[in-house]
Amino acid sequence: MSNRDLSVARSYHARTSHSHFSVHTSGHYLNFEIQPLPFKVYEDLPGIPLPREWTPLEVSALDALMGVPGGGERIPSLSDLARLLHHSAGITKKLVYPGGRAQYFRAAANTGALYEIDLYVACGDLEGLPAGLYHFSPHDYSLRRLREGDWRGTVVRATADEGISHAPVILLCSGTYWRNSWKYQARAYRHFGWDNGTMLANTLAMCAALDWPARLVMGFQDDLPNRLLDLNVEKEVVFSLVSVGRQDAAVLPRDDDPPPLNHRVRPLSSEEVDYPLMWEMHAASSLESSEAVRAWRDGASPPPRPAPEGQRVPLGPRAESSARIEDVITRRGSSRRFTQDAISREAASAMLRAATNVAADFGRLNELYVIVNAVEGIPSGKYFCAADGLVSLGEGNFRGDAGHLDLGQPLAADAALNVYYMADLQGALQRYGNRGYRAAQIEAGILGGRLYLAAYALGLGATGLTFYDDDVVDFFSPAAAGLSTIFLMAAGVPARRR
Ligand SMILES: Cc1cc2nc3c(=O)[nH]c(=O)nc-3n(C[C@H](O)[C@H](O)[C@H](O)COP(=O)(O)O)c2cc1C
Repeated sequence: MSNRDLSVARSYHARTSHSHFSVHTSGHYLNFEIQPLPFKVYEDLPGIPLPREWTPLEVSALDALMGVPGGGERIPSLSDLARLLHHSAGITKKLVYPGGRAQYFRAAANTGALYEIDLYVACGDLEGLPAGLYHFSPHDYSLRRLREGDWRGTVVRATADEGISHAPVILLCSGTYWRNSWKYQARAYRHFGWDNGTMLANTLAMCAALDWPARLVMGFQDDLPNRLLDLNVEKEVVFSLVSVGRQDAAVLPRDDDPPPLNHRVRPLSSEEVDYPLMWEMHAASSLESSEAVRAWRDGASPPPRPAPEGQRVPLGPRAESSARIEDVITRRGSSRRFTQDAISREAASAMLRAATNVAADFGRLNELYVIVNAVEGIPSGKYFCAADGLVSLGEGNFRGDAGHLDLGQPLAADAALNVYYMADLQGALQRYGNRGYRAAQIEAGILGGRLYLAAYALGLGATGLTFYDDDVVDFFSPAAAGLSTIFLMAAGVPARRR
């Protein structure tokens, strides 16, 4: 199966689209007897407890979202690495239901709160932590060492990426199919991108606040990181890499093959159901050689499409907020209901400006289309979001349409603002092959995750939402004709504030 056989990504997208398939109509029901564990638990490895005490970072969330780190070496200590992991994937809330069952919520929003993304760390010697390959275990807030010594060279070999070879820390993000497909079936592969993305929005903002450079790397030879972590690739696969920090000395590629580990991992449930469509999508978007990785990296990014014609509504100055990034991440939770109250133009501007370019090894893929339901100073209507403001695609009250497009949930109808992340999937696939599909999904997740953080920094609420793919395109056409809907966020005044 080849990264260039573009019919696979097209077909996966169509077959998992809500216009054709729905968790509500597919006959699928949730079998709670086999609900998967939301954690990966290594049973034969001792946990290395992580430090919990930090001096709070005096950096506002809005500044962290826009932050550009300074130059020079930036080598994390164990303590700062711990705060990065906690604010990316740690447990931030616990809910105990009558009867005693506990539900843990994590730092980033996640489809169905199923938390199928795991974080692994490959690092050189850090202050407080010897070089090694570690798994971050949120269930007991610890690291587990999978391999001793410095294994970053294997990742460097997989990516041939200049940035990653100067990273003191490399994060490897994996997705475990069953932890999400238990509820969402074959859609779980899309969710890998969204959920990895919302997590990385936190990671990248925390890195900016810590003044560490960080960059998302999606171009890598898949089999090397998968073998490094000794994953059973029918169950779990590495989805993305992030270089964190900077050191002067370059890490050299490591040519030896990582030996198998055979660690004992707790079963997720007594039984699992496989959805081969996702294996097919993963295999078809895998890069199998260094030539394929070079083809990913070299060559021009697709040029941005021209903005549609229409009346321009400038964004206002950005609203200010001194809410600190760590407090915002800790307090964040998805809004369950919005009032229909208006938000200020400055708040809307801050949220839309948070969708800045992602530092990554691919060019920008998602465009933003917006329904304004209630923003002071901006007429209600539908818009394309350009760099210098909103381009009107039609004024009017579109609450009813918004409430249909999110599968009929009242959230989008009541929200002040809905942001649809849409990509020219054909162009992305032409340039990047099927791997472009992974990139479009994760980029939209990061942009949506940034909007979550901006909203909570401003005392507002936000939530990710699912959607009727083709109806969104029709709604924004002709401007959006030919695009694909990748992700949706709603933001506004949360009902609890009344
Ligand atoms: C990609 C994505 C899609 C989501 N879709 C919906 C949705 O359609 N309806 C909904 O009520 N919540 C949705 N959510 C919110 C999740 O249910 C929520 O993030 C999860 O329960 C964890 O709770 P928390 O965000 O409050 O920490 C979505 C979240 C994400 C990240």
